[in-house]
Amino acid sequence: CGWGITCIQTVLPAVAKLVLVHFHWQVSLILDRYESNSSLLMSDALVQPSSTCRTLTVSPICSLQCGVCLQVVRRDALLALPCQHSFCKACWEQHCTVLVKDGLGVGVSCMAQDCSLQMPEDFVLPLLPGEELKDKYRRYLFRDYVESHFQLQLCPGADCPIVIQVEEPRARRVQCSRCMEVFCFKCRQMYHAPTDCPTIRKWLTKCADDSETANYISAHTKDCPKCNICIEKNGGCNHMQCSKCKHDFCWMCLGDWKTHGSEYYECSRYKENPDIVNQSQQAQAREALKKYLFYFERWENHNKSLQLEAQTYQRIQEKIQERVMNNLGTWIDWQYLQNAAKLLAKCRYTLQYTYPYAYYMESGPRKKLFEYQQAQLEAEIENLSWKVERADSYERGDLENQMHIAEQRRRTLLKDFHDT
Ligand SMILES: *[C@@H]1O[C@H](CO)[C@@H](O)[C@H](O)[C@H]1NC(C)=O
Ligand SMILES: *[C@@H]1O[C@H](CO)[C@@H](O)[C@H](O)[C@H]1NC(C)=O
Ligand SMILES: *[C@@H]1O[C@H](CO)[C@@H](O)[C@H](O)[C@H]1NC(C)=O
Ligand SMILES: *[C@@H]1O[C@H](CO)[C@@H](O)[C@H](O)[C@H]1NC(C)=O
Ligand SMILES: [Zn+2]
Ligand SMILES: [Zn+2]
Ligand SMILES: [Zn+2]
Ligand SMILES: [Zn+2]
Repeated sequence: CGWGITCIQTVLPAVAKLVLVHFHWQVSLILDRYESNSSLLMSDALVQPSSTCRTLTVSPICSLQCGVCLQVVRRDALLALPCQHSFCKACWEQHCTVLVKDGLGVGVSCMAQDCSLQMPEDFVLPLLPGEELKDKYRRYLFRDYVESHFQLQLCPGADCPIVIQVEEPRARRVQCSRCMEVFCFKCRQMYHAPTDCPTIRKWLTKCADDSETANYISAHTKDCPKCNICIEKNGGCNHMQCSKCKHDFCWMCLGDWKTHGSEYYECSRYKENPDIVNQSQQAQAREALKKYLFYFERWENHNKSLQLEAQTYQRIQEKIQERVMNNLGTWIDWQYLQNAAKLLAKCRYTLQYTYPYAYYMESGPRKKLFEYQQAQLEAEIENLSWKVERADSYERGDLENQMHIAEQRRRTLLKDFHDT
């Protein structure tokens, strides 16, 4: 009896679970790999079958010393995984306790240096002192089992225990039926079409990292009214001189400085940022910042509009309620108003997420097309928003027509740039 089929048959459930986790619970793939080379499957998953069939090669006069604490203990007080790295029970306990307290479930591995053999749960559990820690470990395991499963995802809603299952795992919008949280199935961030998961992560990280810079820049830079280069204000002086075209202008009103009174006369001239000595570097940095701000400001602005339009939605609902109470039609008669506000939110949400997409897009005809469609969508959304705010002044057909146009634009953009 060695590494053959007979040993694999002794793969215990806890070890099999580790294999499933490693291969994201893709059972048919696992079975195929098991058929073709089971020991390769096991070693890729960093496990070994527990082997009553494997002869231990411990020498009869083995040193009964634990490799961690160096205490000499009786041989039957040493424990080992199938890799045969033996340590005393107290050291294993310590090891497992520390890792589980750190939040590890799957992923607790052998203590020996350079050995990454995974510990099955039935090895770890008896080593954990106290029911509380054992329970914690079971919860972490459950989390890891779900997270590793290609068709499952935990709801990211606060304290929500719901597990979402999909047939086909991809970056799609899902909504939790319990806490109503909406998120991307793949990355558990806010849903982000047409932007993909890695890009939205990059963008959100960038926004978090640069938020101070961006705020600073919006407050401290303006474009030269003559040549449009971005100018930074780094002093109290309002007399600015453009570093490129040497145009003198007023920071406050962007007007020509020459037409100003002498109250600003003490101002000398715009000073270059001393941190960046190289002029071409400075120009590049400004261009990059200017580009980022362009997209960031629109991203922020649509987020604000979404919040304001959510209040409009609230008002519309109250208005409908009032009308129904006063016998001015039924809910069904007025529901189109609610639908319009809902559709507006949906469209603006997609629009918001087109900005990170455009930011990372390479210049070229495809980006031109994208930004053309984006501008069309934006125009129709603003039109719809206008009409939803003033719903009383528009016919139902007018509103519904605009809803249709906006939704068409949204779908076209997603069809051309997302579902590829
Ligand atoms: C299975 O994979 C192992 C490597 O883990 C290799 O040594 C062995 O030769 C393979 N067996 C077969 C039958 O391919
Ligand atoms: C300025 O920096 C750019 C790239 O960072 C470099 O190519 C260029 O040679 C530098 N110019 C001077 C004058 O140092
Ligand atoms: C606006 O952005 C904040 C975070 O920047 C986010 O928490 C919030 O959900 C966003 N609002 C909408 C309506 O997208
Ligand atoms: C909305 O679009 C229609 C045509 O689709 C146009 O006639 C109307 O002026 C636009 N209204 C606003 C407020 O932009
Ligand atoms: Zn080991
Ligand atoms: Zn939930
Ligand atoms: Zn995603
Ligand atoms: Zn002025």
